[in-house]
Amino acid sequence: MAKEYKRYLVTSALPYANGPVHIGHLAGVYIPSDIYTRYLRLKGRDVISVCGSDEHGVPITIKARKEGVAPQQIVDRYHELIKRSFERLGMSFDIYSRTSSPTHAKTASDFFRKLYDEGKFIEKSSEQYYDEQAQTFLADRYIVGTCPKCGNERAYGDQCEKCGSTLSPDELIDPHSAVSGSKPVKRETKHWYLPLDRYEEFLRKWILDGHKEWKSNVYGQCKSWLDGGLQPRAVSRDLDWGIPVPVEGAEGKVLYVWFDAPIGYISATKDLTPEWEKYWKSEDTKLVHFIGKDNIVFHCIVFPSMLEAHEGYILPENVPANEFLNLEGDKISTSRNWAVWLHEYLDEFPGKEDVLRYVLCANAPETKDNDFTWKDFQARNNNELVAVLGNFVNRALVLTKKYYDGVVPACGELTDYDRQTVAELSQIKGALEHCIESYRFREALKEAMNFARIGNKYLADTEPWKLIKTDPARVATILHIALQITADTAIAIEPFMPFSAAKILGMLGAERFDWERLGAMDLVPAGHRIGEPSLLFEKIEDDAIRRQLDKLAATKAENAAAEKSKDIESQKDNVTFDEFQKMDIRVGTVLAAEKVAKTKKLLKLTVDTGIDTREIVSGIAEHFTPEQLIGRQVLVLVNLEPRELRGIVSRGMILMAEDASGKLRLLQPDEAVNNGSLVG
Ligand code: MF3
Ligand code: ZN
Repeated sequence: MAKEYKRYLVTSALPYANGPVHIGHLAGVYIPSDIYTRYLRLKGRDVISVCGSDEHGVPITIKARKEGVAPQQIVDRYHELIKRSFERLGMSFDIYSRTSSPTHAKTASDFFRKLYDEGKFIEKSSEQYYDEQAQTFLADRYIVGTCPKCGNERAYGDQCEKCGSTLSPDELIDPHSAVSGSKPVKRETKHWYLPLDRYEEFLRKWILDGHKEWKSNVYGQCKSWLDGGLQPRAVSRDLDWGIPVPVEGAEGKVLYVWFDAPIGYISATKDLTPEWEKYWKSEDTKLVHFIGKDNIVFHCIVFPSMLEAHEGYILPENVPANEFLNLEGDKISTSRNWAVWLHEYLDEFPGKEDVLRYVLCANAPETKDNDFTWKDFQARNNNELVAVLGNFVNRALVLTKKYYDGVVPACGELTDYDRQTVAELSQIKGALEHCIESYRFREALKEAMNFARIGNKYLADTEPWKLIKTDPARVATILHIALQITADTAIAIEPFMPFSAAKILGMLGAERFDWERLGAMDLVPAGHRIGEPSLLFEKIEDDAIRRQLDKLAATKAENAAAEKSKDIESQKDNVTFDEFQKMDIRVGTVLAAEKVAKTKKLLKLTVDTGIDTREIVSGIAEHFTPEQLIGRQVLVLVNLEPRELRGIVSRGMILMAEDASGKLRLLQPDEAVNNGSLVG
């Protein structure tokens, strides 16, 4: 027998406030957590759902440095953006807090201090990478190098995003600073470590023996961490952004972001309710962490060890982590802008919040990585939401309007087919509940949609639009039943598609029903007047999909160009000083420029070199118009052997910078100088 809990505490991974949220986050974490929470609320359970922004850590300071602003500015911007987009999508967190809040600073600081006072940390000095140029230690993502496992040249000091390995800075091959690009040196520094090895026993018992029911991807990752043997983990960093280590002599040191962030769940609960301890410190509470697979070790190994060390807190009862969602066959990537951003989706598809919720749940990467494609998005909208759900609800309502002036007709005698349909419907509730409670939301969504599917089939089979002329009494019964199924559908889809559920209830002129009523056949009584029917979903046309695909294609092209321009040519063979001296390079001014007839690439330039005025033919017509050149100072190699091109004698060469993509840029003195000035 599963344990009966008095209350539920649902947490969703706190997104880093260094960028917007994308569909990968939604499918992996937030859609499932919202379905789960809404379901529990509908069932009348005592449940709270907490989330908030993760505002510390190196990804945020790196972004701030790149933009030349303070980290606080970055987190303020993204906290607002993320919070707002979640609201627009119908996420129903009870609180969306942030880890830069005073409550959090105190909670995390006290948590650390208690473990410190009780001697639960190891204090250790070691040599760590230090950037002498930027005068800073290089923690985590501040150090970049080649991944020892897969050869990715842009692996970070904490992780390789290409192969997913967890790394430590010392494992990186050819490490360099992400701040200055320089080669780091080693410098001694002191940190506090949580000796995870001391918690191995506890974790083995708790997870490997006690939670065999966890999803196999989660259980498997935990097992392999535990089998590999746990090491002490540093819980502090040399950084100036974060919660100061609350210990004498720890100036310039802050709590490691993965130490403070999960405590953010506790601080958020404190910000929500003075009764927070009821949720965190009672064995009657079921704690569930919704996360993505890259967070498993922190939520199943590190945070539970912290909670165990602290004592008094409950442990998660489950950690239903999802795998990753890809986009059109490629890994979603913030840095490569390969994503569908939630706030952009909401702007571009107004009123289609539920479509995204539906597609991401139907396609959630529950057991393996999955792919989001715009074609699939369109197909699911058109073939499932419009053709099944929308169509059924619309037919039931419109026919009632048409035949009974919008008043629910009375139910007559049931046929065998009616009874069979009702029986089928009564089975769904149990299956749906079982799926949600075992975190299988894709299957749960299918079950919820079965109400509409069965309803649709019921109308198609009974054909009331044909019977109305010959057997109006039968039509009354059919529509009575169809309207009950419509109301059932509204209850069933509410955790998944809250906007549409509310819309159906509005069209039925009904109040929200309790979950327990799901499957009932007396939800809208005979004589009740329904509201105005309108379309629940609309078809998504090809051009909307085309626009999204074009946008992605443009991103791909930009990335390819950026990638290409990074390919630096290797250095040429050495020349002697004398060899270099032989080149006579002067500053000149372009006096005239025109295209060479019948060529695509050639321009004929008339250049004042200070020595003389001469003609130079240059292959730059695809990069510059004549107008862009006339009057500009340029660098000219004047003693290049003259050469005849298209009947014009070219005497010299204009110097240009060319990147790997072949793009050309003029070189010119930073201030005007006399023509004929020597360059060298
Ligand atoms: N910010 C982390 C991420 O996006 C998740 C933090 S979850 C918490 O991967 F537990 F630490 F809060
Ligand atoms: Zn790698």
